[in-house]
Amino acid sequence: MSPSLMDKTIVLGISGGIAAYKSVELLRRITQMGASVRVIMTENARQFVGPLTFEALSGYPVCSDLFEKGANTSIQHIEWAQTADAVVIAPATANIIAKIACGIADDALSTFMLAVSAPRIICPAMNSAMYLNEAVQENLKTLQQRGYQIVSPGSGQLACGTSGPGRLADPQEILDELLMALTPKDLAGNHILVTAGPTREHLDPVRFISNPSSGKMGFAIAAAAAQRGASVILISGPSSLPDPPHVQVIRVVSAQEMADAVFDHFDQVNAVIKTAAVSDYRPQTCSPHKIKKGDDEIVLTLEKTTDILNTLGMRKRCQILVGFAAETQDMPAYAQEKLKKKNLDMIVGNLVSEKGSGFATETNKVTLFYKDGRVEPLSLMPKDAVSHVILDRVAALLMQRPEA
Ligand SMILES: Cc1cc2nc3c(=O)[nH]c(=O)nc-3n(C[C@H](O)[C@H](O)[C@H](O)COP(=O)(O)O)c2cc1C
Repeated sequence: MSPSLMDKTIVLGISGGIAAYKSVELLRRITQMGASVRVIMTENARQFVGPLTFEALSGYPVCSDLFEKGANTSIQHIEWAQTADAVVIAPATANIIAKIACGIADDALSTFMLAVSAPRIICPAMNSAMYLNEAVQENLKTLQQRGYQIVSPGSGQLACGTSGPGRLADPQEILDELLMALTPKDLAGNHILVTAGPTREHLDPVRFISNPSSGKMGFAIAAAAAQRGASVILISGPSSLPDPPHVQVIRVVSAQEMADAVFDHFDQVNAVIKTAAVSDYRPQTCSPHKIKKGDDEIVLTLEKTTDILNTLGMRKRCQILVGFAAETQDMPAYAQEKLKKKNLDMIVGNLVSEKGSGFATETNKVTLFYKDGRVEPLSLMPKDAVSHVILDRVAALLMQRPEA
């Protein structure tokens, strides 16, 4: 399954708020993911941005006029309501939110919203006082109860000079919600634990042993699993990435904290995907204060950390266990040895020294090794695409369990 909006038709509704200019970037990002976009603008939205940019980027005329004819003399907004796979209103003004909540249909966008039955995503953007007003909050609650997805606005400095909640959510957040709405839920009912990122093993309060893992691979897998309907726990070492939507995130620092968190949750899940680059060794002692520069040489004694995968391999009953092997040489041999030794169902091997592969990159080139001896090399692809292939294989392994 691919993480794209390929062949989907998305209707982008734009209402009359300052953030209307941000819809240009959103439209571009949606089309980049392979979707075809139709734009409906309110008359007031046209006061903020002209339709020309949206027409050029979408390749379709913008609909604003309720009485405009579509192809083959059909009524434009009804034709689009019938063909839409999803609808996003961004920005959604207090006015359009109120109209949708009350079923008012006095222009092209509000009438379209009554006619469409595809998933509907509403992205409010307005002045904080307006957003916090009881009427707006009540209307948003009504829409949420009716199954609309509300992408809450961010907080910060607003165009009107005030500060607080009301800023249109980031395009990525809106795209995540779109993917969530359109991805088939083939992992529904499954509980998946994913680990990500590096760990830090402190030798004093300001220094630690770590590695360059960014957490990207694990965060991508967690996000993709949640999009596919799984209930996901992500246990991550230090990473600057934001929490993936609809995922329970537990942030830890050291290998021991990661081990404790994983062991605490292991019995509640039916699959574990361990992408974290956990430190194998930690300093035997950690100084309570910064170690001062003194002798020409100092000796650091390291001790082994808990081997999380090994412990899980011994403890597992019916869970599917997937490990990662990031290697700089002899990857197939090391990966297959780790697969057997740690009682895994699958291991994802990658040569971190290869271009476009491994730590902190947007792409990864991996080979999947299975318990039954099968080997499946994948081509270089973005980490979210790799995630979906791994999850396809995990879904198959879950199905093959004797008790499935
Ligand atoms: C300069 C300016 C900025 C505005 N920004 C917003 C806004 O960010 N959010 C909002 O809900 N309304 C905003 N409004 C008010 C809406 O434009 C107004 O409620 C209008 O009726 C919305 O119409 P529509 O929902 O049909 O587009 C703004 C008005 C002006 C004049």
